[in-house]
Amino acid sequence: MSRPTVRGVTDADLPAVASIFAHYVVHTATTFEEEPPTRAAWAHKRDDIAARRLPFLVAETEGQIAGYAYAAAWRDKRSYRYTAEDTVYVAPGSTGRGLGRLLLEAVIQECSRAGIRQLIAVIADSPASAALHQACGFAEAGRLQSVGFKHGRWIDTLLMQRPLGAEGSAAAQGSADAGGSIPATCEQNL
Ligand SMILES: CC(C)(COP(=O)(O)OP(=O)(O)OC[C@H]1O[C@@H](n2cnc3c(N)ncnc32)[C@H](O)[C@@H]1OP(=O)(O)O)[C@@H](O)C(=O)NCCC(=O)NCCS
Repeated sequence: MSRPTVRGVTDADLPAVASIFAHYVVHTATTFEEEPPTRAAWAHKRDDIAARRLPFLVAETEGQIAGYAYAAAWRDKRSYRYTAEDTVYVAPGSTGRGLGRLLLEAVIQECSRAGIRQLIAVIADSPASAALHQACGFAEAGRLQSVGFKHGRWIDTLLMQRPLGAEGSAAAQGSADAGGSIPATCEQNL
């Protein structure tokens, strides 16, 4: 396998992103979605993430999109603006080869640059995701019992959290209030 590239998502990547996610929607409970989102819904999500200057990245191997990760708003209320929620999905045939780690580390880095101070993961029914997040510096922040019902069973969510940057740092404060500073290479594609 050639070395994977991690880069900002483009419009042309969205069908592959949608297809990866659709697999997990239909076959697993790692997401509480029950219908795969439409292409228009993906474009809307991409635009919302870009408007917040947060990262939406894909991993490409041998010309194929093998995974994606993004950070989205944790909550809309303004006081949550330094907190984001990450999401990472690797294509079913490409798991266990380091792509999840590559993507999540890149999202962490881009969120730090954008002035995000806390990154949160909401993990359902995925020991692999819990292990990946722990390996990337996240710690458990609680468990919500039986909040999802999918495929005939009740499912918990595990909350994991990772602080970013130095709390109260003037540089981070200024960067976040200015809307962050995603590097040009990513900004072009977001
Ligand atoms: C969770 C997921 C993103 C991990 O990506 P991946 O490419 O398979 O993971 P990696 O190969 O990069 O492994 C990274 C770390 O995660 C851990 N890990 C990955 N898969 C694991 C598994 N099945 N069981 C236990 N630990 C696992 C390992 O500790 C590994 O650490 P290491 O780098 O020290 O070896 C991927 O399996 C996936 O897309 N799963 C289904 C969807 C999902 O649960 N998404 C998360 C939603 S929040």
